[in-house]
Amino acid sequence: SRRTILTGAALAGAGAVASHPLWQAAAAPEPQLLKIPDLIDARKEGQSLALKVQTGTTAFFPGRDSRTFGYNGNYLGPVIRVHRGDDVEIAVTNALSEATTVHWHGLLIPGEMDGGPHQLIRPGTTWRPVVSVRQPAATLFYHSHVHDRTAEQVYSGLTGVLIVTEDSEKALGLPSEYGVDDLPLVLQDRQFEDGRLVVPQGMMSLMMGRRGDTLLVNGTPNPVARVPRRLARLRFVNGSNARIFNLAFSDDRAFHWIASEGGLLERPVELRSLTLAPGERAEILADFSDGRPVALETGADLNMPMMMGMQRRLRSFFSDLLGRSREHILRFEPQGGASGTKAAVPERLAEHERVDAAQAVRRRRFVLNMGMGGMMGGRGGMMGGDRGSGMAMHGINSRAFDMKRIDEQVRLGDIEIWEASGEMMAHPLHIHGVHFEVLSRDGGKPTVRDQGLRDTVLVKEPVELLARFTQAATKAPFMYHCHILEHEDNGMMGQFTVG
Ligand code: C2O
Ligand code: CU
Ligand code: CU
Repeated sequence: SRRTILTGAALAGAGAVASHPLWQAAAAPEPQLLKIPDLIDARKEGQSLALKVQTGTTAFFPGRDSRTFGYNGNYLGPVIRVHRGDDVEIAVTNALSEATTVHWHGLLIPGEMDGGPHQLIRPGTTWRPVVSVRQPAATLFYHSHVHDRTAEQVYSGLTGVLIVTEDSEKALGLPSEYGVDDLPLVLQDRQFEDGRLVVPQGMMSLMMGRRGDTLLVNGTPNPVARVPRRLARLRFVNGSNARIFNLAFSDDRAFHWIASEGGLLERPVELRSLTLAPGERAEILADFSDGRPVALETGADLNMPMMMGMQRRLRSFFSDLLGRSREHILRFEPQGGASGTKAAVPERLAEHERVDAAQAVRRRRFVLNMGMGGMMGGRGGMMGGDRGSGMAMHGINSRAFDMKRIDEQVRLGDIEIWEASGEMMAHPLHIHGVHFEVLSRDGGKPTVRDQGLRDTVLVKEPVELLARFTQAATKAPFMYHCHILEHEDNGMMGQFTVG
């Protein structure tokens, strides 16, 4: 049977789970004002931007310096805003002492501009992609994607937000004052010792992905955001290596989910909680017009009980239990008087062009495998797995990632259905160069959270994804992988051409 070495811990019951170090939150640090990254608007820069990948020193906590990486700064990067229809040149200079790449996650551009593992930027050199922005308004992000080192480089700070905007979006009258009522919020968990950032190592990190007991928003621990007493647009980016958030407000107020990874939904969806896996983005409208301070919180990561080998019913029981013990992420403090006119949530946001599933010319199947390297042996049972070389721990369809192997070939313009499932835990599957729609989940209808255009989606039981492949990848392939970055670095990735 498919038991894992962690099953024992699960059997020890709720007490053991609740007291596991991964569940324990650090003592709340002093509140700090939420950092807002600099905004670089490509139009104001004459469509030519410069990004420097550099090392830095960051005091997450006063008087405690950590060595970090950043873009044009010490940790994380500026928010880059590009406009639909424009061509933007970005000069990326690598000032690190190791190679890196910069991947534009969610941008629909050809393979050689994508910034995946094949567009290596060696120390001291500059890479100059030109990105043609031909897609709807959306919250995207950029991050390191150098094979084997993605997890550590991102953990150290190599992530930034990329915003696509367009004129039709302005007509909606959404909150649009950057840093005031339109906020980028990069959510991350990180591990600190004596106030200094440490990079967790070891088997647990390899299996579960690196996790930490401290939650950061834009690199700020225990942040406070002063917001006007009105509607605000919050752009969430899950920039964690492995942590799945389940976001809710401390008073359980409703909010409107307005955009998925690919951009605006057709209509706002009223929710009280929202799951956000690594690599996923979501935009919401939150109403602060009552002037009351409120905290953004997260329930427990749904992968924690899942990883412990629990059956589905037991899993949801534990999720409920742990969902009630929430962790604090960010406090909002509404400022000033109530604004006279209450900004309205638009009824319609966007019109999506439908891709017809009946036109799909191919179906491909993907199983995201864990523990292939002989240690746990996935399907083969515990210990001595029959798959893999012993080098990589993880894989897709029983093969670990190989830069020299093209796994799939897609014809440009084709519509396909990709079916994916994940072993042992929920994996955020990300596909480069395409936006897809979730057709089904676990043999049934997709969930409320599955709607909209996506580039990353949480996979456990089988999902069917429908996509039209519109971007060429002939000079360099696109990647598909788990966005738990330690899974990606350790084999859970494949590559495909489009031509
Ligand atoms: Cu955000 Cu291939 O990654
Ligand atoms: Cu990507
Ligand atoms: Cu994974």
